[in-house]
Amino acid sequence: MPKLIVVNRAGEETAVEADSGLSVMEIIRDNGFDELLALCGGCCSCATCHVHVDPAFVAQLPAMSEDENDLLDSSEYRNETSRLSCQIAFTDELDGLKVTIAPED
Ligand code: FES
Repeated sequence: MPKLIVVNRAGEETAVEADSGLSVMEIIRDNGFDELLALCGGCCSCATCHVHVDPAFVAQLPAMSEDENDLLDSSEYRNETSRLSCQIAFTDELDGLKVTIAPED
């Protein structure tokens, strides 16, 4: 099964099995990373699922919507690799994708 690599706020890296069809947020949450609050449940209205994506994968991700872009602007920790993980649908092509849970705002 494809893997998603999650880096927690302590910098520890864990590879988890990733089902395509789930969002990156759902995969992280279902694997017990409680640092990722995902308070709105994935409807793009909270920004608590903010991650920084490994630059090698940024170009392969689906384009960002205006709502996602606006929400990310509310984070002090936004950088050029920021995404909301609930807005990234995981696919087999993203095997090995590495994301780092962003610091809490
Ligand atoms: S879970 Fe709320 S914006 Fe992603």
